[in-house]
Amino acid sequence: MAEYDYDVLVIGAGPGGYVAAIRAAQLGLKTACAESRETLGGTCLNVGCIPSKAMLHASEYFDAASNGAMADMGIEVSPKLNLDKMHAQRRDAVEGLTKGVAFLFKKNKVDWKNGHATFQDAHTVKVGDETVTAKNIIIATGSSVTPLPGVEVDNDSQVVVDSTGALELTSVPKKMVVIGGGVIGLELGSVWRRLGAEVTVVEYLDALLPGMDGDVRKEAGKIFKKQGMELRLSTKVTGCTVKGKTATLTLEPAAGGDSEELEADCVLVSIGRRPNTDGLGLENIGLETNQRGQIEIDHDFRTKVDGVWAIGDVVPGPMLAHKAEDEGIACAENIAGQTGIVNHDLIPGVVYTWPEFAGVGLTQEEAIEKLGDKSKVKVGKFPMMANSRAKTNHEPEGFVKVIAEAETDRVLGVWAIASVAGTMIAQATQAMEFGATSEDIAYTCHAHPTHSEAIKEAAMAVQGKPIHV
Ligand code: FAD
Ligand code: NAI
Repeated sequence: MAEYDYDVLVIGAGPGGYVAAIRAAQLGLKTACAESRETLGGTCLNVGCIPSKAMLHASEYFDAASNGAMADMGIEVSPKLNLDKMHAQRRDAVEGLTKGVAFLFKKNKVDWKNGHATFQDAHTVKVGDETVTAKNIIIATGSSVTPLPGVEVDNDSQVVVDSTGALELTSVPKKMVVIGGGVIGLELGSVWRRLGAEVTVVEYLDALLPGMDGDVRKEAGKIFKKQGMELRLSTKVTGCTVKGKTATLTLEPAAGGDSEELEADCVLVSIGRRPNTDGLGLENIGLETNQRGQIEIDHDFRTKVDGVWAIGDVVPGPMLAHKAEDEGIACAENIAGQTGIVNHDLIPGVVYTWPEFAGVGLTQEEAIEKLGDKSKVKVGKFPMMANSRAKTNHEPEGFVKVIAEAETDRVLGVWAIASVAGTMIAQATQAMEFGATSEDIAYTCHAHPTHSEAIKEAAMAVQGKPIHV
């Protein structure tokens, strides 16, 4: 009889966990996956990437129909919002994809154990009432919303909500305040602004989108302001009272000073996410989390406990679905004795607003810091206004920026603001993965007319010779 029930037990069926489970099974390992939710797919499929993109996509059409963008192209319509139907198509998208994961589990013979998992020892986990043993256990428990002291989230009331609540609002708020000008705040703030809400973003720092290139962050401020969002930068929220359907927030300058009050009928708390380790029984296997609550791992995704591995939002690094997926594949391959690697220097990031904001590799600020001097970094920029396709499509906002090492011309980072920047960034990521120079990109033939030509022209600009500006 086998020593363990399974070769691999994955805890959590988000993009990290479900992908790891499928890959492990494909590699011939007997695999189970524990998930406490009633559906598979984790945060991303149930309450994250997918439902937010469903609302962004639909609201973008509504916005184009109401803000004159369609009329400018000779399409005259008077749109009427059917919010119930918009929510229904969101739920359909989620249902289709989560059921798709269940189908893939069956196809690959991954056993789904529905219940909350708690470690008993390094090879034994209690899932609900069942005890499961495994030679290898992968922790892929993901993350949840970081609470803001003094601002209590109550998704049911629809007044102070987190991202999950903001996806489910049954009417368009008149005035929405978004706390945190990061990815969630701008994506979900955009959804409700497009549908008619007055949106104010309160951000602690002096620019939106921390972590992105400085030029991109500056431009983001201009673009969202132009779209009608009110931005309160360098400002913090210190308290919130709710009376009936109205929230009153207390705001203060981040550096301290006089406070003021701001009323809203909906407040979205989006100040970041934190790893899920509560109730996991890490104390039973002697595994501690770091100061940020993350599980530390080595290059191969091993924790310091033999046989226990960890991936995705619960470990250090960007909290992104594609990063979790790639780690899931590599971790399963390592368990199977192969060499699974993720290049953590090249994880693209995309904000799916209009236009999209995307980047990969170093920001200009990071490149200068890394190489030690401004003169060691070359930058080429190309405005989308001069890209024929963007101009024809009435999408003049944004630019592409290519950052290269002056001495070797090797590309260190690419940043894009464009309607399809999320798609464009894939070619930059691939070029960088292959160690491309800006000259390599500049001399690669790009189809015309495409937005991607802006990447080629920005690379030509690094060489000092773009054609169209
Ligand atoms: P998760 O997806 O969080 O999955 C972990 C799973 O583990 C959960 O289902 C949870 O129920 C389960 N679990 C936890 N503890 C236990 C336990 N003890 N026992 C059993 N099960 C347990 N990322 C992108 O790349 N692109 C996007 O467009 C994007 N949009 C987002 C939009 C929103 C609104 C949010 C909130 C997030 C978004 N993200 C996006 C981030 C993305 O969702 C996460 O990075 C990704 O889901 C992380 O995957 P994971 O597998 O590590 O964890
Ligand atoms: P975030 O880290 O992107 O942004 C949080 C923002 O809140 C920051 O700008 C921060 O300075 C600000 N902030 C923190 N405390 C504050 C306070 N007290 N008052 C005012 N501002 C404050 O976090 P967010 O938007 O909650 O997203 C969480 C994670 O989900 C992100 O790490 C992201 O990776 C992931 N995500 C990814 C998406 C994508 O890839 N398109 C979409 C949505 C989420």
